[in-house]
Amino acid sequence: MKTSKYAQPQGFEMARRDWPSRSIRKSPIWNAVDLRDGNQALPDPMSPAQKKRYFQLLCEIGFKEIEVGFPSASRDDFQFCRDLIEQKLIPDDVTIAILTQAREPLIKRSFEALRGVGRAICHVYIATSDLHMNYVFRKDRAQTADTALASVELIRRQAKALGDSEIRLQFSPEEFTDTDLDFAVSLCDQVVETWQPERGKKVILNLPATVERRMPNQYADMVEEFIRRQRHREQSIISVHAHNDMGCAVASTQMTLLAGADRVEGTLFGHGERSGNVDLVTMALNLQYFGIDTGLDFHDVESIRDEIIKLTGMPVSPRHPYAGELVFSAFSGSHQDAIHKGLAGREQLTGDFGGWKIPYLHIDPAELGRRYEKFIRINSQSGKGGIAHVLETDYKVRLPRALLIDFSRHVQQLADQVSREIESSEIWQLFNQCYNRQEGPLVMDKYWPRPNHDDPARIDGEVHVRFKGERHELTASANGPVAAFVHALEKLSLPSFSLEEYEEDAIGSSADAQAITFVRLDDDEKRSWYGIGFDQNIDQAAVRAVVSALNRMLEGKGENVAK
Ligand code: KIV
Ligand code: ZN
Repeated sequence: MKTSKYAQPQGFEMARRDWPSRSIRKSPIWNAVDLRDGNQALPDPMSPAQKKRYFQLLCEIGFKEIEVGFPSASRDDFQFCRDLIEQKLIPDDVTIAILTQAREPLIKRSFEALRGVGRAICHVYIATSDLHMNYVFRKDRAQTADTALASVELIRRQAKALGDSEIRLQFSPEEFTDTDLDFAVSLCDQVVETWQPERGKKVILNLPATVERRMPNQYADMVEEFIRRQRHREQSIISVHAHNDMGCAVASTQMTLLAGADRVEGTLFGHGERSGNVDLVTMALNLQYFGIDTGLDFHDVESIRDEIIKLTGMPVSPRHPYAGELVFSAFSGSHQDAIHKGLAGREQLTGDFGGWKIPYLHIDPAELGRRYEKFIRINSQSGKGGIAHVLETDYKVRLPRALLIDFSRHVQQLADQVSREIESSEIWQLFNQCYNRQEGPLVMDKYWPRPNHDDPARIDGEVHVRFKGERHELTASANGPVAAFVHALEKLSLPSFSLEEYEEDAIGSSADAQAITFVRLDDDEKRSWYGIGFDQNIDQAAVRAVVSALNRMLEGKGENVAK
């Protein structure tokens, strides 16, 4: 096998591997790092006002831990931290975190930012990969460990000096997934021992995939083995922080939860350095799909998405799982048809499958404040199912099958002609243009159907029409109002035709709902012509449908519809 140009991460011994046979059963603790890792990677970092709104939004969603910045590295972040504290913007049940490098002046400056906070997490990090230690810092492992432990000691003293604020420690061996596992375990053990956590106040050990260089299963292996080898599991919270360089951050994070991680750091929509951090929207909604209460509320994911787009200036892919504009739409005919049938039968499906399940739809969009109407969009790939769905959901019109087949051809022609998606309103307009033809060679001015004096079972019809511009008043009687109308028209010099199909439906369910009538006329060459008519009165809707079909026949517009 050809070896890779790229140095592969180092392996390690694993006596056992338990995570593959586990399931995720509970929610992790979430820590949103949008205002730090996310913001530092934005082409245009957010203004203080934007950060405040973002912070508030994270609180509204339900995050209880929020990393708010790197106050020792940026004046803006320092001021933002001060504003949150001084303006009392931090809800009682939310803990803010700040990030610092393991350097004395930066730690001291960080604590100035934290004055009066009440409760916070001080997150200190140091790179522990050989790559970083050799190339970037020119330190060996012992020197790196000394620096880390001295920093933890300093944080301990600074935290005490803060007085009445409760400071928790978070330690990250940066580049954990590229770090020698024994070194990471030993350093983290010493960090816990140096911090000496009081009972119940665990140290957060954050094990980041700073650059995603391993497959998700290998990250999970590292986390499982880290936990197995560490000395102070009971005094630590294991946190994961996945970046997305290979596009696997969500899978990685899910697998590390199987491996025993307690806490997840990430950002909404995955904003973060390079290809981003793990996306917490996808993560949380995946867990919600498994039936886990995440404590995070995405019931209106579209407005969260739109607000984040505005705040960050970064687009969200239309194919983003759950929040993308297109994720509850189907373009292809076979998908549309299956969705249409699945939705129509979903009550029954619920019983059959023990839960909500619809072909080609992952979750119930209503759970995220999204609507069924958007499912089906029409373009040149669409089929009858999609068109039927649009007409039924948007216009409450259910077409007879042969008419649907005929109309699909018109839609297809339009889609090919315009080479883009066709809006629901355009479909409706086209439908009316094709089949509702009250203007043409034949125009009906009035139609009065009334019961015959001598035989109330028969109907006398009086028709006022214009045919090719000439007025006619015609009468006929028959055993129904539509038949009387057709007989009256036979007195005009029309080509011969017969009424072959007739269907009526109500549009809407109120007492004054409109009626729609579909008719099919066959001419003597056995060609078929559909027409539709609308009216509040069923008889008037029916005769309008006959006029539409006749006008199409007279103008030769329409095709030989399959019967
Ligand atoms: O990606 C990373 O390693 C980080 C650390 C600071 C935790 O963001
Ligand atoms: Zn990061």
